[in-house]
Amino acid sequence: MRFTRLDRQTQGAFHLWEDSQDMVRNVAGIMSELEDKDFYLLSGIEQGMRFAEWVRHNKLPDYADMAPEEVDYRLNRCTDRELVQRKTIQYEGYQLEVEGYDALALRTFAERETITGVGAPLGVGKEGDVFEAESYRPFALKFHREGYTQFREVMKERDYTSDRDHISWLYTARKAAERELEVLEDLYPDVSVPRPIDGNRHAIVMEKFDGVELGRAALEPDQVVGVLDLILREFADAYDAGWIHGDFSEYNVAVGESGITVFDWPQATSVDHPNARELLERDIENLVGYFSRKYPNQTSSANLRSLCDDIETADFDTVREYASEWNQFLRACLRVTGFVRLEGEITVGLSRLWCVESAEREKTGSDCSPITDCWWILNTAADCWRPSPVVPLEYHEVSW
Ligand SMILES: Nc1ncnc2c1ncn2[C@@H]1O[C@H](COP(=O)(O)OP(=O)(O)O)[C@@H](O)[C@H]1O
Ligand SMILES: [Mg+2]
Repeated sequence: MRFTRLDRQTQGAFHLWEDSQDMVRNVAGIMSELEDKDFYLLSGIEQGMRFAEWVRHNKLPDYADMAPEEVDYRLNRCTDRELVQRKTIQYEGYQLEVEGYDALALRTFAERETITGVGAPLGVGKEGDVFEAESYRPFALKFHREGYTQFREVMKERDYTSDRDHISWLYTARKAAERELEVLEDLYPDVSVPRPIDGNRHAIVMEKFDGVELGRAALEPDQVVGVLDLILREFADAYDAGWIHGDFSEYNVAVGESGITVFDWPQATSVDHPNARELLERDIENLVGYFSRKYPNQTSSANLRSLCDDIETADFDTVREYASEWNQFLRACLRVTGFVRLEGEITVGLSRLWCVESAEREKTGSDCSPITDCWWILNTAADCWRPSPVVPLEYHEVSW
């Protein structure tokens, strides 16, 4: 593994990680060219962006604490390296490019000796660029990009002098990084999340996890329910520690030799939030829905309400207990009829039973539960089906 090295002053011998060039721009590659005063200018612009999207040129000497000629010299260096952007409409204004902000965070990490190098991209997600980082053990460096894409869109439309309601993307991305670090610090090590190491501006450093995102993994049939249980247990532990993930998908959990890791927590919500239950249900639905779509032979729909109730009260053990009543009913039917669980067979069998049951209920006005009525329905169904012979096939256990 090759790394673009950072020394404490961020100067030294550098080799840009070649493969990374096509995917995302890795600013570590130009850190060695930057001088202290370039960083003073970048942080001057950063300060100015708290008040305006485009920082007026004539305010920069104050913000950067530098003579105007020095400011101009540094501005040229930084615009040449695409760390800073210039725009002139009603006044000459400057703002940081994401790479300029990345450079400031990297310099801080290098000064603190949090990391000594930046390597290949580990993943480019919807709201973050993640790189491998070198230290005494493998780390991951995540630059948050929240607000940045939307910001670009808004800027195309808008007169850049209307700064009254200005919320900089720097602020949005920094807040997201702070929230993610806070949540990781709260959850680690009770919940299986990446170990948090350090944070600065819009960037966080955490331990690198092993494995591959669940969405890219192909689980063996006998692993499926076990993995789902593991993930749900992490949800229960996180809830117990006060947090709901809030943005859960099969791409925010990794499965590897050493177990699972749930990551990408910037949208985490406290369990005291008024919408907490709704968010928890959405996360669990995403997870269970993914499993039943991808592994239909090992899973089936679950009673999400009681599953979420038990996650809230830390009573969760295994998802097998939450197969919905309708599933339990179906399983009972399959068992007694000797039907094999074949794709399609269930749906056909089920809809026939359902029709018979509803018709019968309408006739008799009874509203007893399908499960307790299982035998009665089966007998009626058997009558209906008699003309077409039901072939008893080998029965395979449904996984839950
Ligand atoms: N600690 C880590 N170790 C290894 N890879 C990681 C780590 N954190 C993130 N990644 C990789 O980067 C990708 C994007 O990270 P994520 O935190 O999900 O950001 P986003 O908000 O952009 O989705 C992940 O899908 C994963 O492949
Ligand atoms: Mg993600």
